[in-house]
Amino acid sequence: MRITVVGTGYVGLVTGTCFAETGNNVTCVDIDENKVKKLSSGQITIYEPGLEKLFERNLKEERLHFTTSLAEGIKDAQVIFLALPTPPGADGAADLSFVLKVAEQLGKLLTDYKVIVDKSTVPVGTAEKVQAAIAQHCQHEFDVVSNPEFLREGVAVEDFMKPDRVVIGTRSERARKVMGDLYAPFVRQGNPILFMDERSAELTKYAANSFLATKISFMNEVAVLCEKLGADVDMVRRGIGSDDRIGKRFLFPGIGYGGSCFPKDVQALVRSSQEVQYDFKILNAVMDVNEKQKLFLLPKIKAYFNGELRGRRFALWGLAFKPNTDDIREAPALYIIESLLREGAELCVFDPEAMANVQQLLGDKIQYADHQYDCLQDADALIIATEWSVFRTPDFDKIKEELKNRVIFDGRNLFDVQRMQELGFYYESVGRAT
Ligand code: UGA
Repeated sequence: MRITVVGTGYVGLVTGTCFAETGNNVTCVDIDENKVKKLSSGQITIYEPGLEKLFERNLKEERLHFTTSLAEGIKDAQVIFLALPTPPGADGAADLSFVLKVAEQLGKLLTDYKVIVDKSTVPVGTAEKVQAAIAQHCQHEFDVVSNPEFLREGVAVEDFMKPDRVVIGTRSERARKVMGDLYAPFVRQGNPILFMDERSAELTKYAANSFLATKISFMNEVAVLCEKLGADVDMVRRGIGSDDRIGKRFLFPGIGYGGSCFPKDVQALVRSSQEVQYDFKILNAVMDVNEKQKLFLLPKIKAYFNGELRGRRFALWGLAFKPNTDDIREAPALYIIESLLREGAELCVFDPEAMANVQQLLGDKIQYADHQYDCLQDADALIIATEWSVFRTPDFDKIKEELKNRVIFDGRNLFDVQRMQELGFYYESVGRAT
């Protein structure tokens, strides 16, 4: 099939590359000339494990093309995916201006039947708005389909190639057939393609992310309670997770969720609810809990140093909002850094992938180490904010040697509490004994 993907951000690039991998001819369109130049010459613009290999292969096989011209990009395409940004506007609602602008342009360019697919996370009712924006300028037949994306950063290729499910919102038989054929190679294991109406598909995406965020905030509150009641959240997590109805995944407490999706999508769903005069109470609580959780370690750190952090030096491991990405959007680490700086502390940080992004944001307000052990020197304590695998089994002797005090504040529960005691560390984590 001939496919166009408009927008070569995270979702667009993964979508385009993975569709090329199953033999489709894909053209990706982006207004950013520099990006298009880079991508055309084989330089990948995002960090995502496994993507580069597929990207290079499909570029070489000439199944993947890049252009800045929408007109050229959609020529001969049967399906056009819109993978455009929908940033939160001032009021928390998703800003649809990028999506609707491209829709209008498409309206002027269409010459025959095409399926236009909303891949971006967009509020309920957007498919109708896109339909109207195209129809304003277009006499030809077309269908607008909602096909939300459920991929996770860090495992996006795997999520795309082997999805738990594919959600396709359309009431058109013709579009349903096209989309069913396109996704058939991805659901061979028997996972379902769920056909539904456009509005239900749009809401499914927000409800999925909001539910997962709720699971996390719920566990973060249980963790707080565990500390107060002398219980161990690891035990409680296992105890409840073995019930199939609850499930084992997404029950890990920590210092809150971050990233470009959960915070934005929970907020947008609250906003959509308000627009129809509905007060989505649980989600307001989910957001409150997450805000507090990002600074969960701070009182513990302050208490240990008798309330005075001025002049203290901290080593911090992990800047990305989660492992296997260089993405620092809404990363809890940034909130911790900001608070410690406000208290007059100094910081030296390390992250396997996200250093450059943080350096761009914070410049010389903090120090950057080339290696995870280099930032420990003369630090009063080590703080862990992201659960990168390389932090899981560190050389504790080296940590002891370098740190001024044998103190670790772990926001991701990486180590066994008893072992840390045996090793002679003062160790604080989330929802477990000190
Ligand atoms: C999330 C969803 O998981 C994807 O299904 C969805 O497609 C994507 O948003 C999106 O809307 O585009 P992502 O933001 O990449 O994916 O990250 P997750 O792996 O879901 O993690 C989100 C946050 O939750 C991270 O900060 C992580 O540390 C935190 N988390 C996750 C916990 O604190 N505890 C857990 O048990 C799991």
